[in-house]
Amino acid sequence: MTGSADGLGRLAAASLLAAGHAVIVHARSPERAAALRPLTDQGARVVIGDFTDRAAVRGIAAELAEDETPDAVVHNAGVWSGPAVMPVNVIAPYLLTALLPGPRRLVYLSSGSHYSGRAAAAGVDWTGRTAGSYADSKLFVTALAAAVARLRPDVYSNAVDPGWVPTKMGGADAPGDLEQGHRTQEWLAAGDDPAADVSGGYWYHRERRDPHPAVGDAAFQDRLLDALAEETGTAL
Ligand SMILES: NC(=O)c1ccc[n+]([C@@H]2O[C@H](COP(=O)([O-])OP(=O)(O)OC[C@H]3O[C@@H](n4cnc5c(N)ncnc54)[C@H](OP(=O)(O)O)[C@@H]3O)[C@@H](O)[C@H]2O)c1
Repeated sequence: MTGSADGLGRLAAASLLAAGHAVIVHARSPERAAALRPLTDQGARVVIGDFTDRAAVRGIAAELAEDETPDAVVHNAGVWSGPAVMPVNVIAPYLLTALLPGPRRLVYLSSGSHYSGRAAAAGVDWTGRTAGSYADSKLFVTALAAAVARLRPDVYSNAVDPGWVPTKMGGADAPGDLEQGHRTQEWLAAGDDPAADVSGGYWYHRERRDPHPAVGDAAFQDRLLDALAEETGTAL
C-alpha cells in the first residue's frame, strides 16, 4: 500500500490488516514512518522511500523483489499540486509496475478529475522541475491501469476513484464518504471475493463506470507507455 502514512492509504492498510492480511505499508521518510507505528505494532512491514526520488522508488522495487512477491499492490500515494505531481502520481506507479511484475492484483488510485485530463503524452514534464496537472496525472495513471490489464492478461489491474473525501488532500469539508473512499481498493486488492477477479475496470464505490475515452484507447496507452519508457529508461 503506497502512501500509507495518512489518508486513504492508511485507512485501507489498517482495515486489510484487521481482516488478517499481511500488509506492507510505505512512508516517504523514517520520520513519516513513525506515524505507522500502530500498524507495524500489528505486524505490518514498512518500506521507506520518497516518490519524488526515482532511485528511492527503484530501491523499494528491489527490496520487495528480494522477498516473496506481494499478491497485490495498491498504488495510492498521490499529491494534488506542485512539481511532485507527475513523479509521485505517475512515474512512481509506472516504475513499480515495470520493476515488480509479480503481483496478481494491481490497484491504481484515480480520480473524477481524470475526466478533465488532456490525453497527450508528448511534451509532459515528468521530471518534477515544473508543476504538473493533477487531472492529466490521473488520466495517465488510469490509462496505465488499463494498459497493464491489456498487456498482462494474468493480472487483475483496475483503477479506483475514491470520491472527494475528507483527507489531507480532500480537505475537511469534502462531501464524500470516507469509509466508501477506501473499501473498493481493499476489495480489489484482497482477493477474497471472486467478483473482484476482474481487470481493466474503472471503479467508484464498487461500481464499474466508464472512464475518459482515452483510457481504453490502445493507441493512447501505447504512446503513454512509450513516453514513460523513454523518460525512465525502463520498459513495462
Ligand atoms: N481525498 C480525495 O478526495 C481524493 C479524491 C480522488 C482521488 N484521490 C486519490 O487518493 C489517493 C490517496 O489520497 P488521500 O486523499 O488519502 O491523500 P493524503 O491524505 O494526502 O495521503 C496521500 C499519501 O501519499 C503520500 N505521499 C505524498 N507524496 C509522497 C512522496 N513524495 N513520497 C511518498 N509518499 C508520498 C502521503 O505521505 P505524507 O503523509 O508523508 O504526505 C500520504 O501518505 C491519492 O492518489 C489521491 O490522488 C483522493
